[in-house]
Amino acid sequence: MKHTEKIIDESLQGKALVKEQNKANNKKLFIESYGCQMNMNDSEIVASILAQEGFNTTQQLEDADLVLVNTCSIREKAEQTIRKRLQKYNAVKKKNAKMKVGVLGCMAERLKEKFLEEEKIVDLVVGPDAYRDLPNLLQEIDEGRDAVNVILSKDETYGDVAPVRLNNNGVSAFVSITRGCDNMCTFCVVPFTRGRERSRDPQSILEEIQSMADQNYKEITLLGQNVDSYLWYGGGLKKDFKKATEMAQATAVDFAQLLDMAATRFPKMRFRFSTSNPQDMSLDVIHTMAKHTNICKYIHLPVQSGSNKMLKAMNRQHTREEYMELVDNIYKIVPEMALSQDMIVGFCGETEKDHQDTLNLMEYVKYDFGFMFAYSERPGTLAAKKMEDDVSNEIKKRRLKEVIDLQLKHSLYRTQQHVGKTEEVLIEGESKKSSDHWKGRNTQNTVIVFPKEQYKIGDFVNVKVEDCTSATLIGTAVGYSDNN
Ligand code: SAH
Ligand code: F3S
Repeated sequence: MKHTEKIIDESLQGKALVKEQNKANNKKLFIESYGCQMNMNDSEIVASILAQEGFNTTQQLEDADLVLVNTCSIREKAEQTIRKRLQKYNAVKKKNAKMKVGVLGCMAERLKEKFLEEEKIVDLVVGPDAYRDLPNLLQEIDEGRDAVNVILSKDETYGDVAPVRLNNNGVSAFVSITRGCDNMCTFCVVPFTRGRERSRDPQSILEEIQSMADQNYKEITLLGQNVDSYLWYGGGLKKDFKKATEMAQATAVDFAQLLDMAATRFPKMRFRFSTSNPQDMSLDVIHTMAKHTNICKYIHLPVQSGSNKMLKAMNRQHTREEYMELVDNIYKIVPEMALSQDMIVGFCGETEKDHQDTLNLMEYVKYDFGFMFAYSERPGTLAAKKMEDDVSNEIKKRRLKEVIDLQLKHSLYRTQQHVGKTEEVLIEGESKKSSDHWKGRNTQNTVIVFPKEQYKIGDFVNVKVEDCTSATLIGTAVGYSDNN
């Protein structure tokens, strides 16, 4: 597993996304996504909107009439990667004057019109809430004007756009349930680029899942910056909930209820969700997970640091002790639960003692896996404005290595616990290392590879685990599971 970039399917990162072609369409769209799963899902929404405008997707950059890059601002390195990509587009555009280039996503929102000045190649800048405006914006550039729409919306959730599933395995798909984030962690650019938090109508979520079930999808990941904070009370921002009518408040649907509804309505569908924020995670969610076998026993539960001083400076709304209590409760209610973390090392003012607190918390939880980062100052955040980025790069690097090494040790400890057991696996595709083997994941989200035999993609099979590395289980299928 790559431990420095947070993505579920690394094979999608930065690759052109393609879908089945609509023969009536005659324009070609090349769309690439960087960053989180939400960006991958947004690109599917964009492809759907543009399919109505006559665009089919292509994997050949050189053939494209329109090139779109869905961008990430989370760390400086992510932005540098995208600037490099723009240079590549520029070289191609020189040979194809008709080609238009658009920047979508978080960098578009952060840099706005500045993008057009800084990167001459860019024709179009569109923020995460403005994709419905793409047809108009394309018209603007056709008529020779610059086109920028970066307005963040109060209620945009694209609930009624059926995403075009790009480059996927036909087995697992993402469904967005919230957009934006209200948490204002002091290091994080997301609240600025994706706006305030709003939830999507449960009805439209269930309809999208139904359509995925009809197309034979087997696993849905519910997506949001902070899914545990999901709250539908008829529309509007989460922060305005208290102003809603009594009736709206009394009939509101929270995340535990949404999960329960989805898992009950679709007993054959596997459910996952990401990301959980410890401060918003309720025990109701854990009990709902315990109640349904089709909700996977895995929680991505970022903590960022094990030091109370750092948690406070980061504006995380919980202490180390509260986090440990939550973890205790999770393991008590669902002993087989897998947990993963996000950690930031070298945040402003982090001392050796704070760093030791992080290592020590990791030792307590023994996460199954993790995503670890050196702090990268982001313009506009409270940390950038008010705090000093005072940990040197050398120290950040050394601490990052220590955190990664410890995580690898814990990952191995966790994978070893599976050896000898027989576990249900959903087959997602071919193993990267061997065309004779399938790969899939167990309920805990650990990857398992095993000989293909007569099985096929989309089957649920029971696999006996015989061996492991720190990232992968190795086994043999012993038959179909009851879930087929
Ligand atoms: N709630 C979101 C978090 C998005 S950011 C979600 O859906 O996952 C993902 C991770 O990037 C954060 O948990 C944090 O560990 C890391 N991160 C965010 N801002 C960062 C920064 N300025 N420097 C380094 N890492 C950062
Ligand atoms: Fe960022 Fe904190 Fe929200 S990490 S996405 S502000 S929960």
